[in-house]
Amino acid sequence: MQDNKIDTRCHDLAKLDEDQKEKVLQEAGEVIRRGGTVVFPTETVYGLGADAMNPKAVRSIYAAKGRPSDNPLIVHVADFDLSALVRDVPEQAARLMEEFWPGPLTLILKKDPKVPSETTGSLDTVAVRMPDQEAALALIRAAARPLAAPSANISGRPSPTTYRRCIADLMGRVDMILGMDDSKVGLESTILDLTGPVPELLRPGAVTLEMLRRILGEVIYRPSASLRDDEAPRAPGMKYRHYAPRARVTLFRGESQAVRDHMEKEKSDDTLLICIGDSEQTKERPGCLTFPSVEDAAREIFETLRRADDEGYQRIFIQAVEESGLGLALMNRLKKAAAYDIVEVNE
Ligand code: TXA
Ligand code: MG
Repeated sequence: MQDNKIDTRCHDLAKLDEDQKEKVLQEAGEVIRRGGTVVFPTETVYGLGADAMNPKAVRSIYAAKGRPSDNPLIVHVADFDLSALVRDVPEQAARLMEEFWPGPLTLILKKDPKVPSETTGSLDTVAVRMPDQEAALALIRAAARPLAAPSANISGRPSPTTYRRCIADLMGRVDMILGMDDSKVGLESTILDLTGPVPELLRPGAVTLEMLRRILGEVIYRPSASLRDDEAPRAPGMKYRHYAPRARVTLFRGESQAVRDHMEKEKSDDTLLICIGDSEQTKERPGCLTFPSVEDAAREIFETLRRADDEGYQRIFIQAVEESGLGLALMNRLKKAAAYDIVEVNE
């Protein structure tokens, strides 16, 4: 890791008028063109961006995050023309882009040789997505470069979904931090590999497996692949510890009322209880931080895990949700945060 020595400029775009915003975005674009690093908001989580075509700039992302440099990055674009990045756009990719871009879907495609190996972790494929966030798109256009960007957290911490957390993690480590609204999805994008014989979901997100299957027909998902720690990293968390707060996290799975009773019984003074509503069971439970829906839980979970650490909780008990729709993505992140510590609750 580097020393804290970069003079970081911070701008909360939400507080600026249109002219000021435009000026800051042009400045940020210039920072990117000169090989610098800029943190920016997206609808999923905040990203830590640099020019995807500049190997030196990409290396400074890894340095800022303290992340091992063999982990490939997602390239963010503001244009549907991918010819500078990928060898060809298969028909399936074109359909998905039409349906879900801009939005939380990353496509893995065969890369053009011009994309540096620093960006793709030496793979012959490249991950591409178009974020659904005006400021992000404006930054990419101002830079006139595709932006390689991982989540804007220090490696190992939960991804940041607010401007404030980006500052806490990366002040002094990047050239610029741009803030806007809190991320509206709250979980990182869906990652779909389109380079094999059958499309494969590598990371579930807000573009759900069901949505992908509706368009593509067959899509493979092997959840157990993410359980193994000894294989080459193909999707986040497959090798490195991810999403984890300092407090120990345990998931409780079973019928909603039974789970809530059980968590209550097992807790001690330094345990945070998190309940997640399903259709019948959205009522606030005293002593339990309750999210009325899976969408609400997804949007708030990373921020909640960070706050639990700030408030000194030693344990976090979380009610498991059904692994379908957005619940598949939420459970994927929660299981990693819990290091697969899951209690089955029987009535
Ligand atoms: O929502 C998101 O995707 C956020 C925002 C900032 O856009 N970004 C994000 O990036 O989550 P990151 O670096 O935290 O996760 C990207 C993951 C990598 O860890 C890697 O496993 C996978 O994407 N990836 C990137 N390129 C790949 C490739 N060519 N083949 C397989 N997996 C790839
Ligand atoms: Mg990340």
